[in-house]
Amino acid sequence: MRMIDLIEKKKRGMALTKAEIDYFIDGYTAGQIPDYQAAALLMAICFTGMRHEETAWMTDAMVRSGDQVDLSSIPGVKVDKHSTGGIGDKTTLILAPLVAACGVPVAKMSGRGLGYTGGTVDKLESIPGFRTDLDRDAFLDTVKRIGVCVVGQSGHLALADKKLYALRDVTGTVDSIPLIAASIMSKKIAAGADGIVLDVKCGSGAFMKTPEDAARLAREMVAIGQACGRKMAAVITNMDLPLGYSIGNGLEVAEAIDLLKGAGPADLREVCLVLAAQMLSLAGKGTLQACRDMAAAALDSGAALEKFVQMCRAQGGDPAVVEHPQTLYAGAVSDTLQAPADGWICRMDAQACGKASMLLGAGRETKESAIDPAAGIVLACKTGDRVQKGQVLARLYTNQPDQMADAKQVLLDAYTLSDQKPQLPPLVYDTILGE
Ligand code: URA
Repeated sequence: MRMIDLIEKKKRGMALTKAEIDYFIDGYTAGQIPDYQAAALLMAICFTGMRHEETAWMTDAMVRSGDQVDLSSIPGVKVDKHSTGGIGDKTTLILAPLVAACGVPVAKMSGRGLGYTGGTVDKLESIPGFRTDLDRDAFLDTVKRIGVCVVGQSGHLALADKKLYALRDVTGTVDSIPLIAASIMSKKIAAGADGIVLDVKCGSGAFMKTPEDAARLAREMVAIGQACGRKMAAVITNMDLPLGYSIGNGLEVAEAIDLLKGAGPADLREVCLVLAAQMLSLAGKGTLQACRDMAAAALDSGAALEKFVQMCRAQGGDPAVVEHPQTLYAGAVSDTLQAPADGWICRMDAQACGKASMLLGAGRETKESAIDPAAGIVLACKTGDRVQKGQVLARLYTNQPDQMADAKQVLLDAYTLSDQKPQLPPLVYDTILGE
């Protein structure tokens, strides 16, 4: 087989065979196929796409390229969730203990963030002492003991994706639905859960800008998961504005704790309940409505909060943050952003909110950048709110005060004011279930 023939075929929009896809993924992972040929094939895929079976074969080859986690020693149906990424998305911090509190084990591997905001691992590590680098045995033991554990993704999972993603990042080949689907699903399948709920974000702060593209990605991923024998559901949720009010690592943990105490923002609670209901339903806990009621009861009774405390203790984190969440961002310098005029907030550029928070120190510009756990933004007003000139729109936190002015400007530009009361977009666009 020759790589040049695969590139020529794909350039003409022809389907690759399973053997050809295996040749590409195995050869590239082993360092036998050079970056320039891999990049040419990826670009051809961006232009001419892949059929569903090609995407499923690519995912399977990527799963086999690295370690696979065996969760079979944990009794029960294990469920995982994945978000395609958004600003202020702290749902894993809530869902992992919440679903575990309802009796469904959650053995979760999460990533660090690269780009505007930290990932779940960065957020958890803003809790003093919290360890996400447990070895495989400690990870499995913790889930068996308390029903939940969230660790960093092993560097050996889906090795092909690691190499390919780095190449896609620098060759303009990230935004291809089949490539995104294979990349995400290879890691999820290798992580070993029986059921996977996908939160596919859609809007200005997401990879997928329209509900149609988000639905295409969701359908592709659900089909791949099912072909690999996993129970699947995908929910398409809005990311035209940040989820909740807090953006930044310690600040998002503080907001998640608030929600676990039965308070917190309504949009965040709703998305968490929708996702929790799907996770519990995949685990066979009853109808969707019964599962939602069960999750709401676990939030309101304090059972989910208690599970979060257990998770903190088990992973070395200081559970005192639950009583004193403000310690997560204490010491940072803060300043407010005021509304420049009267009006309705008719639009927010979620990506720009993320960029402002990165300028404050909450995200990484390069893989090596250090994250400031206390940095970020707490919004006071969001799309749909009426504001008066001078009213506080947001409070910004940083340990790099020289960045404050730039961050305030970027955040101000993220708001669009209007005389007209805006129509709010739906929080949940669609749900796509496996057959
Ligand atoms: N996240 C991933 O893991 N892979 C992609 O290709 C895009 C987003």
